[in-house]
Amino acid sequence: MSRGDLDPKDWDLFRANAHKMLDKSIDKMENVNSGRVWSPVPTNLRNKFEEKLPVEGSTANNIINEILPYGVGNTHPRFFGWVHGAGTPSGIIADIASASMNVNAGGRDHVAPVIEKQVLKWCLEIMGMPIDGSGLIVSGTSVATIIAIKVARDQKIKNSREKGIIQGQLVGYTSEQSHSCIKQAFDVLGLGTDALRVVPCDENFEIDLKSLRKMISQDRANGFTPLCVVGTAGAVNVGAIDDLEGIATIAKSEDLWFHVDGAFGAAGLLGKLASDRLSGISHADSLAFDFHKWFQVNYEAGCVLFKSEAGHRSSFADRAEYLRGSERGLAGGDFWAVDYGPELSRGFRSLKVWAHLKEHGVEALGNSIDRNIRLAQYLENRIKSEKSLESMAPTPLNINCFRFASSSNLIGSNLDALNEEIVILLQERGIAVPSTTRINNQLAIRVNITNHRTQESDLDLLVDAILEIGEELIRNKVF
Ligand SMILES: Cc1ncc(COP(=O)(O)O)c(C=O)c1O
Repeated sequence: MSRGDLDPKDWDLFRANAHKMLDKSIDKMENVNSGRVWSPVPTNLRNKFEEKLPVEGSTANNIINEILPYGVGNTHPRFFGWVHGAGTPSGIIADIASASMNVNAGGRDHVAPVIEKQVLKWCLEIMGMPIDGSGLIVSGTSVATIIAIKVARDQKIKNSREKGIIQGQLVGYTSEQSHSCIKQAFDVLGLGTDALRVVPCDENFEIDLKSLRKMISQDRANGFTPLCVVGTAGAVNVGAIDDLEGIATIAKSEDLWFHVDGAFGAAGLLGKLASDRLSGISHADSLAFDFHKWFQVNYEAGCVLFKSEAGHRSSFADRAEYLRGSERGLAGGDFWAVDYGPELSRGFRSLKVWAHLKEHGVEALGNSIDRNIRLAQYLENRIKSEKSLESMAPTPLNINCFRFASSSNLIGSNLDALNEEIVILLQERGIAVPSTTRINNQLAIRVNITNHRTQESDLDLLVDAILEIGEELIRNKVF
């Protein structure tokens, strides 16, 4: 029986407590359809965390028991905010196993790299990328994007790892609908956010290829070096999918790195309804996407994939003497994650991803994604059938943007404020969690469906509640 300084003094008690927690966690997952979607953290619970640094140990279990209802709410079928996956109960099992192993998956010869390599192989296949490509499991698309653009930078400027880059030397392109993590990657990598050219979109919120071509040639004429173009497969505001084939053609003819942000949308390749529009991903030099979004793996896990293993590796591999590999022993192994990304210490994310793919298979995941796309169409029709609701953007994938615009003659900022208040009240009353965004400079209620638990009845309930709250606010002359 283990007796480390920090191991349990009473293993039976520990086992009983662990089983209790497991039961509570399973209860939570089993009953996830009922109850409030989101609840603010009550003051008495907040206060329990405001205490002096513990000098002597006590139990944390009582408080851990109390926190379960106060998460983001994304396990609930009426969570529609931002882009969050809903997760699955089986994630608990993989997380228990990886916590007990306490693996550092940065390198060496053990089971984690074996599993990670297999998951990456499967992902290259799903995404239609070369099977001898490369990749890495990371925390999410934001980090995946930094890794991808760094590899692009290092391929373009051969000694950039040692010498850095000259300010203003490199420029990249992405649409005005792309996610802020791309700008962040330019910042983090020292390219500067000004170096990211924002290309206008067409009426479908997709990158305008004519403008892209024009901007590239203008930059060349002005002495800049175009580095990359980032296409979006499922843009965060309305779910638009850029013309990926079109971007790939331009990238090829202009000798630009082609990166795809497929944070949630790339998963659409698993289904039938969006896969045609996503097939251009196969031309990408790099792709960033998340398992914790539309794949429904529990938080957190994302991925970056590359067409070329050599290019990916050359951007990160540089191990010091104390990390030298060997032919045999624990320092062996042919996949050290540290050769493919900036993290040396990292957890065993690949286990839960592998277990998820193995348990459900890609067919069921694809069906669930297609069902979400159909639900977005259902909601679109429901919105169009209500005279107090106004659709504000097309629904190409899984996101609806609309607003309550009753007969009250409210316009401009008042209408924005009314819709903002509707969303806040929906959240505060625990009914549903949509989020907001701005479409053509007007505030929109944004409903994102990356949730395998959502049913038509959840969307009906949401619409009814929006209508009720909207009328209530008008009646009470709040606006
Ligand atoms: C299109 C898109 N790109 C990037 C991201 C960032 O992903 P992550 O939160 O996993 O870092 C998101 C997040 O919602 C997104 O929707």
